[in-house]
Order: sequence, then C-alpha cells, then structure tokens
Amino acid sequence: MAKHSYTLHILFFLTLVGTSYGGGIAIYWGQNGNEGTLSEACATGKYSYINIAFLNKFGNSQTPEMNLAGHCDPPSGTCTKFSADIKDCQGKGIKVLLSIGGGIGSYSLSSKEDARNVSKFLWNTFLGGKSSSRPLGDAVLDGIDFDIELGSTKNYDHLARFLKDYGRLGRKVYLGAAPQCPIPDKFLGTALNKGLFDFVWVQFYNNPPCSYANGNITNLVNSWNRWTTRVPKSKIFLGLPAATGAAGSGFIPADVLTSQILPVIKKSPKYGGVMLWSRFYDLQDGYSTSIIGSV
Ligand SMILES: *[C@@H]1O[C@H](CO)[C@@H](O)[C@H](O)[C@H]1NC(C)=O
Ligand SMILES: *[C@@H]1O[C@H](CO)[C@@H](O)[C@H](O)[C@H]1NC(C)=O
Repeated sequence: MAKHSYTLHILFFLTLVGTSYGGGIAIYWGQNGNEGTLSEACATGKYSYINIAFLNKFGNSQTPEMNLAGHCDPPSGTCTKFSADIKDCQGKGIKVLLSIGGGIGSYSLSSKEDARNVSKFLWNTFLGGKSSSRPLGDAVLDGIDFDIELGSTKNYDHLARFLKDYGRLGRKVYLGAAPQCPIPDKFLGTALNKGLFDFVWVQFYNNPPCSYANGNITNLVNSWNRWTTRVPKSKIFLGLPAATGAAGSGFIPADVLTSQILPVIKKSPKYGGVMLWSRFYDLQDGYSTSIIGSV
C-alpha cells in the first residue's frame, strides 16, 4: 500500500512539472548510393519511419519515373532487390513510405482526374494493388510522402484524398508531407488543411525566417508553435539537416537540439519526433545517435 501511494505521488508530481511527449526519427533514404542499404539503415534501430526518395516524375499524363541515385536503376528492375529490405524494416515495426516529388524532377497534377490517375498508379505500383511493373517488387509500402517543391501548386488535396480512400480497401495508407516551414506552404497548404496527413515533417531549414540561426531558437520555436496549432490531426515533426553539408542553412548542433529545443517542443501533444535529411548525411556525423535518447 505504501509503495502504491508513493507511486501515485510521483505521478502527480510529474503531471505538475509538465507533460513531455515521446517521438521517433524519420529519415530520407535513396538519393545517395553511398548511404548503405535500407536494411542497414533499419538495423541501426535509430529510425521509426523511412521515406524512400524519390518518385520524381508523375502527373500531366507523363509516364512516371523513379530515381534512386546510385542505389539501383528502376527501369531495368535492379531496385526490386530492396523488396526484402522493405519487408525486413517493416518487420522491425518501421513504417516505409515512398516519397514523391523532391527538389529535381518533372511533376504536377493537371486536374482532379489527373490526381485520380496518379493515385491509381501509386496504389498499383507501390501499395496494395497489382501491376506487372513494380520497381520495388512485391513489398507493400506503408504509404506515400509528399515532398512537393516545384511545378503546379494544384490538386494535391485530391491526390491525398484518393490515396487515403484506397486505405478503406484494407490496409491503412499512411500519408506524410514535407512542407517548408513558412505558413502556408505554397504547394501543400490546401492539402494540409484537410487533415488527411498522418505525419507532417516540416522542413525547418533553408528558410531563415522560421529556422534556427546563429544560436537563436526564437524563430524556430515560434514557427513550431504555429504548425502545431494550425494543422489539424497530423503529428508534427521537426525536420532538420543531419549534418552541416545537408542544407544551405538551419543545421542545429546536437547539444543545442537536445538541451534547448526538444524539451520545449515536446510539450505539444502533436509532437511526433524529428525528421532528418538524409541517411547519407546522418552516416557522416552520427547525428541520430547523438539525439535519439532525447527524441
Ligand atoms: C495515367 O497515368 C499513366 C501512368 O500511370 C500515364 O501513362 C497515362 O498517360 C495517364 N493518363 C492520363 C489520362 O493522364
Ligand atoms: C532572436 O531572434 C529574435 C527574432 O528574430 C529576436 O527578436 C531576438 O532579439 C533574438 N535574440 C537574440 C539574443 O539575438
């Protein structure tokens, strides 16, 4: 009895001090052939979400194309070897998404019908549907991540809705989005307002007005608070460069992140964790290893 009331006392005390939420690390993989395999990334135990980057050509009646840099060549079928890796990662409880878009490519959705066509392609080629041409083999990915940075700003809300609807056929389709930190995001603002995304990994880099700069966390924390109060339903992630070379600006030294920033942003029930660009850069300096204990 005495022990029981002591535990309750401690719990009560912790509640008074303030709730802090736990999260996971999301990482982008696929844009550098020297970053190791998916299975190696998952075996580190550091990541909870992997975004395979990128399907960088789609929409507007184009034949879609995937780019996995030096890892393999999608059209010739050499990327199907990653099917086993994907299943291996999923077996460890890691969610694996296909990221569409990116900083280089040719993509846009010309109409609602075009969005429907692309959703069907994604379902059949990477999710629970069937196609004779599946670049990543028969592994069924957990969802689709939207990293839309160029082309038309229109119809991504339709694409998100159509993809989400496929989830009703059985296995849930998770949706991720990687908007820039200024609100509203030029490309994804409309789609984000519909509350269809499970994970929103905001890019708090290359955007000085809402990123960390010169030891000052004010702009970043203010922007974080806007994201967590304005985007319905989604879990929000702090998207960061994994090394100084990974972005033009916005890198946060690991000790600053763990001592000054995470304790503040983890107070939001919408906190989902930290997103890192990318596996290649994380391998350079072990950033995820330095922060995982505090995420
Ligand atoms: C529909 O998408 C396919 C690729 O999946 C493409 O080849 C085709 O041209 C598209 N059709 C229209 C009408 O956009
Ligand atoms: C940090 O940045 C904010 C917003 O730009 C500014 O108001 C504040 O003075 C800065 N703090 C320091 C210590 O430079």
